[in-house]
Amino acid sequence: MKRTIKDLVGLKGKVVLVRVDFNVPMDEGGRILDDTRIKNVIPTIKFLTDQQARVVLLSHLGRPKGFDTKKSLYPVALELMKKLDCNVDFINAVVGSQVKKRIKQLKEGNVLLLENTRFYKEEDACDMEFAREIASYGDIYVNDAFGSAHRKNATGFALARVLPNAIGLLMEKEIENLSFAIKEPKRPFVAILGGAKVDTKIKIIEKFIEKADCLIIGGAMAYTFMLAKGEMVGMSKIQEDKIEIAREILEKAEAAGKKILLPVDHIGVSTSDSKGKIEKVDKLKGDLAGYDIGEKSIELFKKEIDKASQIFWNGPLGMFENPKFSNGTKKIAEAVANAKAFTIVGGGDTVNAINTFKVADKIDFVSTGGGASMEFIEQGTLPCIEVIQQKIV
Ligand code: 3PG
Repeated sequence: MKRTIKDLVGLKGKVVLVRVDFNVPMDEGGRILDDTRIKNVIPTIKFLTDQQARVVLLSHLGRPKGFDTKKSLYPVALELMKKLDCNVDFINAVVGSQVKKRIKQLKEGNVLLLENTRFYKEEDACDMEFAREIASYGDIYVNDAFGSAHRKNATGFALARVLPNAIGLLMEKEIENLSFAIKEPKRPFVAILGGAKVDTKIKIIEKFIEKADCLIIGGAMAYTFMLAKGEMVGMSKIQEDKIEIAREILEKAEAAGKKILLPVDHIGVSTSDSKGKIEKVDKLKGDLAGYDIGEKSIELFKKEIDKASQIFWNGPLGMFENPKFSNGTKKIAEAVANAKAFTIVGGGDTVNAINTFKVADKIDFVSTGGGASMEFIEQGTLPCIEVIQQKIV
């Protein structure tokens, strides 16, 4: 078991460097479109400020190439001010004499947010010198950035190697919920996987063939599986080079006696019609491309969802951002929210979907990880978790 902030003593006056994941969706004007990741680290920040620690927050945002004001964390500092009752300061750098000075001036129980760590190429290069420089500003390192714990970078990984460390409360909750769901699933366990690309989901599908009782596959990825089964997909987007692996996965599931459900009807768009005529069909013939699942598929999937004792969902079932193709994802979101099962939802798009359809409150555990939750389920741990000290028991 990893050491958590609850195991730390004598925090008063200490500079605690906390790696968080404030990689939140923002519009051009710096308006935060979803604050889930900010809300979820507030308990850790409060825990530390309540003990009069001096809290320095580090995060990346997006994938900038060097300094880029559009990817500044300043809007997040403003949001934190609203959510915390202590003083929140911001500085537009991560290293340097000014940062050092501001940390020295930081009062007990207050918070300083540093600028986007990815403005420095040393971050993704996991540069030890960069990490040592940042480490020299603090006393203790805390990682609460579950969403990026699969990235072996300087502030998520290297920093933990040079400072006494612990995980935060969000990280602890993520590890507990996801480990429990995989190691001791309540049965029947239904996994719902959607999204566009088969290749990013292969390992997790294989894991669920092993762990789940029923696997529901939707989203654009389903068309590659349908083709592998010899079904018609019309002009739907498929991954030609993944048909073989999709076939192997289906065979593996059959051999293991596991149920894999694919859509049985569709909302198709005519690719040869200039107006993009929409049709409800059982078979995607000719020029039709699938954009959403139809009512029969929803009913089929709902039957499994209603029977389940545990559900894990990652990936939308259609192009839900467009209201014309949102019905499948909406109905499945509602079914998951109303299920008697213990429900876990992970992944940026899926969290966005449950927020859009206003059912997030009814989900038992919403993971802040996208790629991280997938990799955690596949491997049972992540590099930035592994590097943290074990709890002394
Ligand atoms: C995420 O949003 O999945 C994490 O913050 C990691 O971001 P990245 O994929 O850009 O490394």
